[in-house]
Amino acid sequence: MKKNNVVTLNQFISDQQNKFPFVQGNLSRIFRDLQLAAKMINRDVRQAGLIDILGNFGETNVQGEEQKKLDVISNEVFMRLMDMSGAVVCVVSEEDEGIHWCPDGADAKYILAIDPLDGSSNIDVNASIGSIFSIYKRLDMDKPVTEADILQKGIEQVAAGYIIYGTATMFVYTTGNGVNGFTLDDSISEFCLSHPNIQTPKSGKIFSVNEGNLNEFPQGVIDYINWCKGTNKEEKRPYSARYIGSLIADFHRNLLKGGIYLYPPTAKAPNGKLRLLYECNPMSFLVEQAGGKASNGQQRIMEIQPTEFHQRTPIFIGSADMVDQVMGMM
Ligand code: AHG
Ligand code: MN
Ligand code: MN
Repeated sequence: MKKNNVVTLNQFISDQQNKFPFVQGNLSRIFRDLQLAAKMINRDVRQAGLIDILGNFGETNVQGEEQKKLDVISNEVFMRLMDMSGAVVCVVSEEDEGIHWCPDGADAKYILAIDPLDGSSNIDVNASIGSIFSIYKRLDMDKPVTEADILQKGIEQVAAGYIIYGTATMFVYTTGNGVNGFTLDDSISEFCLSHPNIQTPKSGKIFSVNEGNLNEFPQGVIDYINWCKGTNKEEKRPYSARYIGSLIADFHRNLLKGGIYLYPPTAKAPNGKLRLLYECNPMSFLVEQAGGKASNGQQRIMEIQPTEFHQRTPIFIGSADMVDQVMGMM
């Protein structure tokens, strides 16, 4: 039987660095720290049912210690590692209102945006959750970092990815040269290349949307969802509805199998729910690198000019033909 080579994420990154000399050591350093964060959060997620860390932030447990939600713990893990790395100037996180400045990062080149734990509502019920990251270069090394450095368009991302804590833990990322997925081998505590050069199918049979909001969606979206549910043997409809309610888990499945994820505007939330900087932009970079598409209904997600750190945007993301189809119907 032919045995495949084992390629760890560290090895892969170091090989990439040799191939693309512009990917300098500092970016590798960030990836090393992101991996470590992933392993630490993975450990906490796996033990969440065993140790007393489930529950609401602000509550105290029987020992009188403050209980923390896993998303607060995850945020602290990322911040601690980025503070130590010296490769990141500052971090924007879903868990923090303002900018987190890294004490040793004044001369660093990179800016990080994170959703430390995505799909929080799934933590207590043992469904898949994840962490999302997006990396930018600061605009000018000779000038201090301002809001403009952080509010860059998605097309300026130098790297993006996510870690999914599912039945297995995976690290999936892109630096603009395709998408690669690594599965954590617990026995050696290494992410190993398991999904090289991920390409998402051009079309699929899965649609993922919170249909509870259906009556609040724009008419074009309602028409599209009804079309997905209509019968047409040649077009393999009706499609299957799959919605975990954890962007990472829904996105990851659709990326591999083909499908579309929709978070449209609603009457209550005209800008949708998901955040541009640390949810939609990184997912859009990944999906485009895998051959798919991402739009807010009017324009490519990665071409939106951000105006606020925690800005929201509607999103239609996934297999290229499916995104085109919903756009056509809107
Ligand atoms: P987070 O846990 O980081 O706040 O994100 C939750 C998001 C996303 O993961 C998911 O796709 C979406 O919320 C689900 O929203 P609905 O419950 O409104 O469908
Ligand atoms: Mn999220
Ligand atoms: Mn979150």
